[in-house]
Amino acid sequence: MMLWLLLLQVWASCLWLGQGEVVESFGSCPQFFYQNFTPGNALTPPNAANICQTLNNQQFFATLYNKDKRIPVYSAYIYKRERGKRPTLQWMVEPQLIRLNLSKNMQTVGTLKNNTNVTKEEIMASQAVNGDYDGSGWDRGHLNPSGQHENETIRNATFTLTNAVPMNPTLNRGQWRIYEQQTMYNKAENCSTTHVIVGAVPGNSSINQDRVNIPNYIWAAACCETNNNNMSAWGAFADNNQNQLRNMTLGQLEIELANLYGVQNVSLFHGGCPRT
Ligand SMILES: *[C@@H]1O[C@H](CO)[C@@H](O)[C@H](O)[C@H]1NC(C)=O
Ligand SMILES: *[C@@H]1O[C@H](CO)[C@@H](O)[C@H](O)[C@H]1NC(C)=O
Ligand SMILES: *[C@@H]1O[C@H](CO)[C@@H](O)[C@H](O)[C@H]1NC(C)=O
Ligand SMILES: *[C@@H]1O[C@H](CO)[C@@H](O)[C@H](O)[C@H]1NC(C)=O
Ligand SMILES: *[C@@H]1O[C@H](CO)[C@@H](O)[C@H](O)[C@H]1NC(C)=O
Ligand SMILES: *[C@@H]1O[C@H](CO)[C@@H](O)[C@H](O)[C@H]1NC(C)=O
Ligand SMILES: *[C@@H]1O[C@H](CO)[C@@H](O)[C@H](O)[C@H]1NC(C)=O
Ligand SMILES: *[C@@H]1O[C@H](CO)[C@@H](O)[C@H](O)[C@H]1NC(C)=O
Ligand SMILES: *[C@@H]1O[C@H](CO)[C@@H](O)[C@H](O)[C@H]1NC(C)=O
Ligand SMILES: *[C@@H]1O[C@H](CO)[C@@H](O)[C@H](O)[C@H]1NC(C)=O
Repeated sequence: MMLWLLLLQVWASCLWLGQGEVVESFGSCPQFFYQNFTPGNALTPPNAANICQTLNNQQFFATLYNKDKRIPVYSAYIYKRERGKRPTLQWMVEPQLIRLNLSKNMQTVGTLKNNTNVTKEEIMASQAVNGDYDGSGWDRGHLNPSGQHENETIRNATFTLTNAVPMNPTLNRGQWRIYEQQTMYNKAENCSTTHVIVGAVPGNSSINQDRVNIPNYIWAAACCETNNNNMSAWGAFADNNQNQLRNMTLGQLEIELANLYGVQNVSLFHGGCPRT
């Protein structure tokens, strides 16, 4: 009997370590995921990069980036119940997508070119740049939006193109904005900490020839720890070619994503977040 318990314990700790391995991929910024649990491999494309989004040597959120399609798969962050003013600044890029020994700080193309010997071509080969969006008719749609944060430093940090996808302007400035600004605010009323993951499902067309994929769908998921030690969770889903949004449970969103990605099981959050 004792032996069984011991074996069970060893086996359980192996399982636990197994989950730790998954977390390893965002090893230096697991804190942006509820209970350090990352969504696993189901949504991870072949040529992906884990980005701990850093500005002036401080980490602010995490992004899984699809290097082939030059758009994020998702950004994960901690929501603040704020109605923050949108800062005015130039969009930045991620130097370490070019070479790992470049700065970990996001910066503008101009600063990067001045401070290193990287060329515009090298930057463009590794990620989307402003020129891809200019004149395309598509918005640079934030996944992690600037308004949901408490101070200008972190709001500035959302202005990296690795956190943006080509978004239908009508949706971005319509139902999606209502969800970001109003629905989130209402639903998070009693939350002490709210972890959020916002993602995009790639489509079959791109802007600037074949450079930056236009996603078919944009989705968002939230997991909230309430002031009275309860949990709640929810999801939202939008078609990137119309100005409509569907509220759904976390469980429904995971099933929707599993179908779209053609996988068995998508688990966006730790099991402690309610699926229904
Ligand atoms: C950075 O890496 C590149 C190759 O990836 C290498 O050519 C270069 O010497 C490295 N630079 C420094 C400063 O280590
Ligand atoms: C880059 O360097 C040039 C020439 O020194 C300067 O005019 C420009 O303002 C710099 N740009 C940035 C973004 O630092
Ligand atoms: C860029 O400069 C570094 C040293 O600062 C050098 O090691 C590297 O070879 C250079 N890379 C290119 C592509 O010129
Ligand atoms: C801004 O908010 C972020 C996120 O909460 C925090 O880490 C950072 O220290 C704050 N910065 C300032 C200058 O208050
Ligand atoms: C945010 O970015 C703007 C534009 O670069 C800059 O003027 C401002 O100082 C930044 N805010 C903070 C708190 O770093
Ligand atoms: C927050 O708590 C209050 C008081 O219990 C309740 O009336 C309200 O419906 C709750 N809000 C949400 C979004 O659950
Ligand atoms: C995108 O193209 C692939 C391969 O041609 C096809 O299987 C898939 O159904 C297309 N998806 C959409 C949403 O059109
Ligand atoms: C806890 O949250 C669930 C929904 O997630 C709700 O049905 C339940 O009433 C809540 N319990 C308490 C004690 O607030
Ligand atoms: C989603 O739910 C919120 C309430 O939680 C509601 O205010 C909003 O109108 C709903 N959005 C849609 C598109 O149904
Ligand atoms: C889906 O994955 C989660 C986390 O990896 C796991 O806990 C759950 O049992 C899986 N569900 C199914 C139906 O395989």
